[in-house]
Amino acid sequence: MKTELLFKPTAIQNKALRLLKTGAKHILLFGGSRSGKTTVLVMAVIYRSIRFAGSRHLICRYRAKDARSSVMRETLLPWLDRTIGINGYTYLAHESMVTMYNGSEIWIGGLGDREQADKILGHEYNTIYFNEISQLSYAAVTTAYSRLAMRIPGCRNLFMYDCNPGSPLHWAYKIFVLKKTFLTGESLEKPELYQSMMLNPEDNKVNLPEDYISDILDVLPEKQKARFRDGLWVKAEGVIYDKFDEKMIINKADLPIEFDCYAAGQDFGLNITFVKIGWFRDCIYVLNDYGAFNMTTQSFNEELTARGWLTCESGPSCPVYCDPAGGERIQEITGGLKANNSVESGIDYICAKMERKQFFVCGTCNGVLSEIWDYCRNEAGEIVKVNYHYMDALRYAVFSSVQQGVVFQ
Ligand SMILES: Nc1ncnc2c1ncn2[C@@H]1O[C@H](COP(=O)(O)OP(=O)(O)OP(=O)(O)O)[C@@H](O)[C@H]1O
Ligand SMILES: [Mg+2]
Repeated sequence: MKTELLFKPTAIQNKALRLLKTGAKHILLFGGSRSGKTTVLVMAVIYRSIRFAGSRHLICRYRAKDARSSVMRETLLPWLDRTIGINGYTYLAHESMVTMYNGSEIWIGGLGDREQADKILGHEYNTIYFNEISQLSYAAVTTAYSRLAMRIPGCRNLFMYDCNPGSPLHWAYKIFVLKKTFLTGESLEKPELYQSMMLNPEDNKVNLPEDYISDILDVLPEKQKARFRDGLWVKAEGVIYDKFDEKMIINKADLPIEFDCYAAGQDFGLNITFVKIGWFRDCIYVLNDYGAFNMTTQSFNEELTARGWLTCESGPSCPVYCDPAGGERIQEITGGLKANNSVESGIDYICAKMERKQFFVCGTCNGVLSEIWDYCRNEAGEIVKVNYHYMDALRYAVFSSVQQGVVFQ
């Protein structure tokens, strides 16, 4: 089937297709909006499904409904129609899956819904394409890693990713651009396996409305323009912890030797997270964080216990202030107490601490750092409900201990 005659890649999309053949295992396309990132990666999935009969591919993002609307309906199905034609595949809507004439399958789903995640992660794949990873936690992405295990002769299994750039503290920037491991911050052992490329709307001008760049992107506020037109990794517009500064990231060796007291915060859900802080005089130090995806509360608590994070150096166990909506799960957490969930007051308190330079984060706290500059409000002033798992746990720890009066103001 001569699909290449029907899909005409732009010059930069051609370069991206070549990148897929370089031997890299993880390929990220990032850049401004409408630059052709999703189209070229979906086409790569289509090519691979045609080339390798009986192969299986997964395209996933945070919300299943976004995956169905923006990837399935707007990109995958139209391009399947244009390339192999409607008789070449069957779309099983209730399964969110396409079966091809040669037995290959393309699955689409959301990692943010537990049922969906369990379903799509119950299979093995030859390609896993994470769409719009600025919305996905690193824990969610790595949970899917073990599923890239299908064996089809001649097919090299691949992870593909795309996104509009996030903040320079986002995990994807750290791994793909700085080439450092997420967990330790050390240089990647095999950096050649991680390749990334920038695609911008200017590169896709031929396929965009004539005035899209001049009338829509050029007139955006500065930070949005940097992200959505120029594909730069910058702090978002409306960042809640705008006062957080890289100088507040400190080495473990530079932490105070002793703390006046400790507290921790615990958030529940598919992305389960924990953040431990220490208070020294009037300063807050974020000491440890841990997050997992689709893990039971009990296993999570066992992991925290094994790490020794639930005990204080002296005195009783560290209070762990939990999401009050956690119900019975709170009892499964050692030292678990209901957190104070006054969102705006908690945020104001942390912002004030940052402003007074009384807030520090240990450089090993990847989860907190990865979210801190992407935690933002939309134009209506509401908190954007993606990438906020560690931010909630942090706020529970800080503001509940303030409310308990155990700290200095
Ligand atoms: N090679 C191509 N031929 C024809 N149309 C294309 C091609 N590449 C991209 N397009 C069109 O350009 C538009 C933007 O493409 P796409 O959705 O892939 O961009 P994107 O970078 O993923 O955007 P976003 O950042 O909004 O997710 C779509 O309408 C798509 O159909
Ligand atoms: Mg896209």
